[in-house]
Amino acid sequence: MRRKLVAGNWKMHGSLAANQRLLEAVREACGEPGGAECVVCVPFPYLAQAASVLGGTPVAWGGQNVSEHDSGAYTGEVSGAMLRDFGCRYAIVGHSERRSLYGERDSQVAAKFQAAQRAGLTPILCVGETLEERNQGATEEVVGRQLDAVLNNAGVQAFAAAVLAYEPVWAIGTGHNATPAQAQTVHEILRARVAKRDEALAGSLSILYGGSVKPANAAELFAMPDVDGGLIGGASLVAEDFIAICSAAANA
Ligand code: PGA
Repeated sequence: MRRKLVAGNWKMHGSLAANQRLLEAVREACGEPGGAECVVCVPFPYLAQAASVLGGTPVAWGGQNVSEHDSGAYTGEVSGAMLRDFGCRYAIVGHSERRSLYGERDSQVAAKFQAAQRAGLTPILCVGETLEERNQGATEEVVGRQLDAVLNNAGVQAFAAAVLAYEPVWAIGTGHNATPAQAQTVHEILRARVAKRDEALAGSLSILYGGSVKPANAAELFAMPDVDGGLIGGASLVAEDFIAICSAAANA
């Protein structure tokens, strides 16, 4: 059975003081053995703070992005090895905000995925369609293309140490989550696509849903057979909401 996983994506929010309260609350409430795996992906400058508050607890932390390069003259970039230096276990790659606001292409996302793994990080690979693409009936084509770019470059075996996240762009930060049935449909498509290359591996791959997950809708989303947890934006900034979502995952 796949263990449920809940990852918070703080995006560009936080301060030392606010983070301290949030991280301590999460540390106290989340990550009990046997429950869902709990992760917070914090802005780079706060990785040391996450490490100091969460170190030695079951709660993991990660970056929200990673360079496709291992080191060199890449001003403003952060490598996988640097994330590992600060104890990160995970790195989000290919978030739709990176794709749409910073022009990350499928091939670059694939390179980031591989760079994360070279550094010993578990990539959380995000895929998802826009509303326009959904309305055109192109959801499967879009998420398939985004997934295949990584499968073709990294190989299916690389997904043994990776997490996939379906994040419909129209659901991110909008308050309009995908219905459990809509999420399940796409998760099933994604798993089947991996299964065409390696069935056993597809069966053990965690596929998270992201996009307006809240305490009120988490349990029904996580009850879907192919929804293995969530990638949480806004609600991960509110301790009681994030904790409630982690416990919904633990009880799913
Ligand atoms: P949201 O963001 O939960 O605020 O919709 C999810 C994400 O962008 O990962």
